[in-house]
Amino acid sequence: MPDLDRVVREIADEMRARPDRGTVASYIPELARADAAAFGLAVVDVEGRAAVAGDGDVPFSIQSISKVFTLTLALGMAGDRLWRRVGREPSGSPFNSIVQLEREAGVPRNPFINAGAIAVTDLILSGHQPREALGEILRFMQALALDQTIAIDEAVAASEKRTGFRNAALANYMRSFGVIENPVDYTLGVYFHHCAIAMTCRQLATAGLFLAHDGRHPLTGHSVISAERARRINAVMLTCGHYDGSGEFAYRVGLPGKSGVGGGILAIAPGKASVAVWSPGLDAAGNSHLGRIALESLTKRMGWSIF
Ligand code: DON
Repeated sequence: MPDLDRVVREIADEMRARPDRGTVASYIPELARADAAAFGLAVVDVEGRAAVAGDGDVPFSIQSISKVFTLTLALGMAGDRLWRRVGREPSGSPFNSIVQLEREAGVPRNPFINAGAIAVTDLILSGHQPREALGEILRFMQALALDQTIAIDEAVAASEKRTGFRNAALANYMRSFGVIENPVDYTLGVYFHHCAIAMTCRQLATAGLFLAHDGRHPLTGHSVISAERARRINAVMLTCGHYDGSGEFAYRVGLPGKSGVGGGILAIAPGKASVAVWSPGLDAAGNSHLGRIALESLTKRMGWSIF
């Protein structure tokens, strides 16, 4: 068995030395401030052993990775009713695409494209004030990551609120079909804020552990979600977690994974470990360029592909 600590350190060193870093997202102006030279990697295994290297303890904007946790929370609240509001097929389209919504009666293809995640957020909001729903999401993240200090980066949330015209279009369009039930401003407010949660690779890998361990968090013993639902969330991550780059990610990495435009990726090796990687430069599909390359190297060296 390869020495995990050494593999993680070597991959971080290799990635930090590479000249090709992708392009830092700038459509949310505050994200453009990220350091393109940053690289962090954290692996936490199901026994709780952590291997962390590079900038693995530096917080970054988790962005769409939050969608894995809002999906988990919403499934816990609404059960399989959730699938009436959002599908579970890959979209083959960019994360912020509008075009499918009209053809498909306002029902988003999956919970990870922006439209789908906004619909899931709307479900969490039902019957609550935005502040309460957001508090619920943040406390859920803190409990899973075993760290009460995790917070929302208000500058990122405000930056996205000022410039999120496309998400506003998606939300209004879904509202016209009744897929969104709450005032659009409330739903978008909660969505922008949960995307703006800042976490380190170590915290994120810890938070994802329940997905590697049949829905139970191995460090707290708490049952977060049933084993069947954990398997299904992993399935949706594999098929939809990288938008129109999901096939390429499955082909190269062979693990369920979810990316965010902050440059993070959470990947799950079922029965083995939860992995978080961060490098802010993105590829053309909006997924971390070096993050994917690092995960490909990790799964190859550890023999962790699910296939
Ligand atoms: O809604 C947005 O555009 C961002 N808050 C999240 C998008 C995102 O992270 C896409 N992932 N690669």
